[in-house]
Amino acid sequence: MARFEADVLIIGSGAAGLTAALNLPSNLKAHVLSKGKLEHGATWWAQGGIAGVFDPKDQTENHINDTLVAGANLGHLDSVQHTVKDGPKGIQWLIDQGVPFTRQEEQYHLTREGGHSHRRVLHSADATGKAIQQTLISQAKSASNIELFEDRIAIDLITRRKLGLGEDACVGAYVYNQETESVDLFLARTIILATGGASKAYLYNTNPNGVASGDGIAMAWRAGCRVANLEFNQFHPTYLYHPKAQSFLVTEAIRGEGGILKLPNGTRFMHRFDERAELAPRDIVARAIDFEMKRVGCEYVHLDISHKPADFIKEHFPTIYERCLELGIDITKEPIPVVPAAHYTCGGVMTDINGQTDIKGLFAIGETAFTGLHGANRLASNSLLECVVYGKSAAEQVASLLQESGEAFPEVPNWDDSQVVNSDEDVIISHNWDELRRFMWDYVGIVRTDKRLQRAQHRIDLLNDEINEYYSNYKVSKYLIELRNLVTVSELIIRCAMKRTESRGLHYTLDYPEQSPDLYDTVLVPENYFWGVNA
Ligand code: FAD
Ligand code: SIN
Repeated sequence: MARFEADVLIIGSGAAGLTAALNLPSNLKAHVLSKGKLEHGATWWAQGGIAGVFDPKDQTENHINDTLVAGANLGHLDSVQHTVKDGPKGIQWLIDQGVPFTRQEEQYHLTREGGHSHRRVLHSADATGKAIQQTLISQAKSASNIELFEDRIAIDLITRRKLGLGEDACVGAYVYNQETESVDLFLARTIILATGGASKAYLYNTNPNGVASGDGIAMAWRAGCRVANLEFNQFHPTYLYHPKAQSFLVTEAIRGEGGILKLPNGTRFMHRFDERAELAPRDIVARAIDFEMKRVGCEYVHLDISHKPADFIKEHFPTIYERCLELGIDITKEPIPVVPAAHYTCGGVMTDINGQTDIKGLFAIGETAFTGLHGANRLASNSLLECVVYGKSAAEQVASLLQESGEAFPEVPNWDDSQVVNSDEDVIISHNWDELRRFMWDYVGIVRTDKRLQRAQHRIDLLNDEINEYYSNYKVSKYLIELRNLVTVSELIIRCAMKRTESRGLHYTLDYPEQSPDLYDTVLVPENYFWGVNA
């Protein structure tokens, strides 16, 4: 078993992981893992942009208020204030790294998205995430203290308690190396989870590379961290409906720049659901589309921007224009067929304002974390912002903790696969994943009921038994690791959903259609919880 040692192990190479790595002092050695190629994550696909107060007519208070309103008042004020106040500094840091945000004359062009009371979203045309990811990868490659590892899948965290060494702290991870098909050991004085979200639990999702299998959330849970608010799965209202499209998002900025939602017969409907119409927060728009599709029995609705000048559309939305044209849809002349799809995980591993989890030496940032920022529904373009703000504050906290000289790394047993054999039935994995994402879509989707959740729980129990048996008998593989995590995270989503006996934000249930007067988070505590550092 190959063994690697560093000051900091960062699991994930998206906006969160690389921001953390690049903000560490150069005397700290960091290992950064990516389970596929470095750019394979949600970050690469981000279209709309990153929100921050840059317009002199806008104010920090407006952004704070919009975030809290979109989050149905469940956002934590400390996290919202931290993110929004430090946001412009974080965006300036991205600009300093070389991210080419779109300009209009002397200013950065600010677009608008649902739930924002002002134009506030910096972007690189309609491929903001790609511009950020490329810039951060290039900076990380030239940093002497950062070593990047592709095709390495973290399987489980190693803690002192698991090793029988008393006081709990995270000391590393077992990592599956896809090239050698063996398990390596990565030890570090601090571990940062930046593995993204869990939208892959759903049949339709906006994440084309499919890395969003909730690995960080599942690993942290197994290690003894609390998780919270996982019922708040964000469904993006406008995912391209086309048999050959495969997980292609149509940015909300199209609605921000005047795009209109219509039924296939050409009638508008959003004004019947919310006075902000197409620019209402995402939960409201996605639910309205779902309702209308069921009411009139159509398979999709239309998003129409064709009333805008063709040059404007091609300049602002070149990626979407090209992709749709390849599929035979000219968006300058005709509407785009769209449906809602799973997009973002608002809940996750509970952290404090610096990304510290319940376990000493273990941090979580980006979509993996539950910082309290998003409440019951994330405001558009606040996610990249959270990655950058929390990536930086976690790095600063890690740097201050690692000032003191650390203990020697403990003895860690080798990964033992002497009792397991190569799988001869991979069909079980693909069949179980297919079943999982279908019942998650049908029973734990945009509209829920107690009965649907119970059905989903029953199926999860069966899948859990099968996967645990499979995991104990066969050698690990990428798909087995992911499926094990997806089953765990889906169970956590269902448990959180069952605990929320009201409809709020992204959690809508026919059994409790009203909002409760009480504000609460749905916190799940693992059996091996240790009253850790945040207790
Ligand atoms: P990711 O960028 O998803 O990166 C996760 C990393 O973790 C990857 O490197 C992956 O390989 C690695 N990883 C995962 N599991 C393991 C493991 N077990 N071992 C090793 N490595 C692992 N947000 C906005 O604010 N604005 C937008 O315009 C916007 N548009 C979006 C468009 C799309 C299509 C999608 C899908 C999301 C969009 N979002 C947007 C959301 C935003 O892009 C993500 O929330 C954000 O990029 C998440 O960044 P991250 O660093 O947390 O995770
Ligand atoms: C989009 O461009 O519509 C996605 C923005 C986001 O998820 O914040």
